[in-house]
Amino acid sequence: MKGQFPLERFRNLPTPFYFYDMNLLRETLAELNTQSSDSNFHVHYAVKACANEAVLKCICEAGLGADCVSGGEIEAALKAGIPAQKIVYAGVGKTNREIELALKADIFCFNVESVPEMEVINELAALHQQKARIAIRVNPNVDAHTHHYITTGLNENKFGINLAQLPEVIDKALHASHIELIGLHFHIGSQITDMTAFQNLCVRINELQDELAKQGISLKHINVGGGLGINYEHPNHCPIADFEGYFKVFRKQLRLREGQQLHFELGRSIVAPCGSLICKVLYVKEGSEKKFVIVDAGMTDLIRPALYNAYHRVENLSSDAADEKYDVVGPICESSDVFVKDYFMPRTSRGDILALRSAGAYGEIMASRYNLRQLPGSYTSDSI
Ligand code: LLP
Repeated sequence: MKGQFPLERFRNLPTPFYFYDMNLLRETLAELNTQSSDSNFHVHYAVKACANEAVLKCICEAGLGADCVSGGEIEAALKAGIPAQKIVYAGVGKTNREIELALKADIFCFNVESVPEMEVINELAALHQQKARIAIRVNPNVDAHTHHYITTGLNENKFGINLAQLPEVIDKALHASHIELIGLHFHIGSQITDMTAFQNLCVRINELQDELAKQGISLKHINVGGGLGINYEHPNHCPIADFEGYFKVFRKQLRLREGQQLHFELGRSIVAPCGSLICKVLYVKEGSEKKFVIVDAGMTDLIRPALYNAYHRVENLSSDAADEKYDVVGPICESSDVFVKDYFMPRTSRGDILALRSAGAYGEIMASRYNLRQLPGSYTSDSI
């Protein structure tokens, strides 16, 4: 056993695969529940981050709800045991089939992103003689100062309804026969570690609520989305996200109305640290300028470095030798199939086992079959 990894067990398993440390996940969930224990706080896990069955089950056992963005995610959440009354459903392109599935399950709330979508939900709810509970997703125009691919709360993004159009949309919702408007939904982006972005969101929501109060409108539910980031640099020193600081911002800065319920949709901060992509070194290739460690995992297994230039710490679990400088690369026919460049790591040889850390969120779930590769397998610390 090296670090928290059962290396001996890994040797007999076909690589690459995702490994989830369930003890860390349970500790994370316990800390999350401690920090969000206010009776009006409700956390919905963002299933898009990781829908691994064992992980979802564990999250369900901790009592969280689910934030879904497709019919498939709603089905996965229900299958894991998450009650429909704790499911929220967002997404700019909900299909009729998905809306009907959500209506049939009688989920807690649709987060509606446009007027045409609201009209379709109203029609389908009428067809099934139901009333759909909805929250309007508001684009608050708050900069999350994160990677531009994962910034969602700016006017230039496709998500939500602009502040200027909001009064008209609220009016439409209030007059729709088969819709019950119950809340407002926000989400500004992902991997946010500077709490001022969340403070700015609170200020914007306060202003908006004051504005709505003048018009006599008060809604029971406010959903502030997700976005809390983790420390990718130091997974061993900072294995649990700063839930304390995060929830404190909302407790202090957000002026909720009497009886108002506050909803959160955290994904990455819950599951990223507990997952690692485990792979094996195929070859160490000495180029004229660089040494390449070629592993059997690639961008098809973990796309974040190629897509967002994201950093995942790489640990050689098999070697304690002196450090050397490497580029760690995958086998895919793309120049962007690189995990880290000019990276210091113990001297590495064919057959060594490496762990790419903090890969529990947006790792396994974003894997593809490009190059007709097999999807990575998965194991948990409970199962091996
Ligand atoms: N709620 C909504 C409406 C979202 O769009 C997202 C993430 C979340 C909640 C969860 O955010 P989290 O707490 O995980 O930051 N693939 C990218 C991240 C995309 C995030 C998309 N939306 C990555 O690998 O960094």
